Amino acid sequence: MLDVSDLTVAYGQAVALDQVSLTVPERSITAVLGANGAGKTTLVRTISGLVRGRGGSVRLDGLDISRLAPERVARLGVAHVPEGHGVVTELSVEENLRLGSMASRGGGVRQALEESYELFPPLRSRRRLSAASLSGGERQMLAIARGLAAHPRLLLLDEPSSGLDKIETERFAEIISGAVASGLGILLVEHDMALVRSVCEYVYVLDFGQLIFEGSMAEAQNSEVVRAAYLGSEAA
Ligand SMILES: Nc1ncnc2c1ncn2[C@@H]1O[C@H](COP(=O)(O)OP(=O)(O)OP(=O)(O)O)[C@@H](O)[C@H]1O
Ligand SMILES: [Mg+2]
Repeated sequence: MLDVSDLTVAYGQAVALDQVSLTVPERSITAVLGANGAGKTTLVRTISGLVRGRGGSVRLDGLDISRLAPERVARLGVAHVPEGHGVVTELSVEENLRLGSMASRGGGVRQALEESYELFPPLRSRRRLSAASLSGGERQMLAIARGLAAHPRLLLLDEPSSGLDKIETERFAEIISGAVASGLGILLVEHDMALVRSVCEYVYVLDFGQLIFEGSMAEAQNSEVVRAAYLGSEAA
């Protein structure tokens, strides 16, 4: 469904992504791993139209979206949960969810809200509160719920487990595994290897803007290249 081909992105002279190619099939969770500064956030920001590539293409179901404005990309069904707690703190919990559902291609706002509260019960009791009053974990839940409320075809998650405790992370793993059953594809940027192992079959590893590995999770764990670049003792 998502096809990134030979994507190159630079900030001035500094090349952040160097001819990166990857695909995210529908009904799947594909992981992008890499050390700090490897280019993971740059990748998701380029897919969602916030950063312009210098070369290569980004295709969604065959359509090249690499020159489209972020709102057009969102309208085509790409939802982006950014790194950090991507919520609007000036708005209430429910207003944040309404905002997310505005990009939805099907179902009404009311339905999207109900789905969000079913997935994340703590948000229901806090729905009238300002998003600024939420704890870090609750904000992250809200950011994820907001992404899902758009009923996306493709969901980009940039380190979604940061701020979530172990139980919340396990619940999150269940939620995204359930979400892909309905047909969407997820690109997951994550540092929590236990989470990646539990939900992803296929992984890509970036190192200084270059793709150094792609393969199954099992292959990644056995790869010397990956170990050396990133996984280290975590692979054990
Ligand atoms: N707006 C920017 N202007 C200039 N350089 C940038 C900008 N954003 C990122 N970079 C640089 O591009 C490289 C890749 O950054 P990016 O944020 O994509 O990495 P990352 O893999 O997401 O890292 P992390 O795991 O720390 O989130 C880094 O060297 C970073 O300093
Ligand atoms: Mg990042």
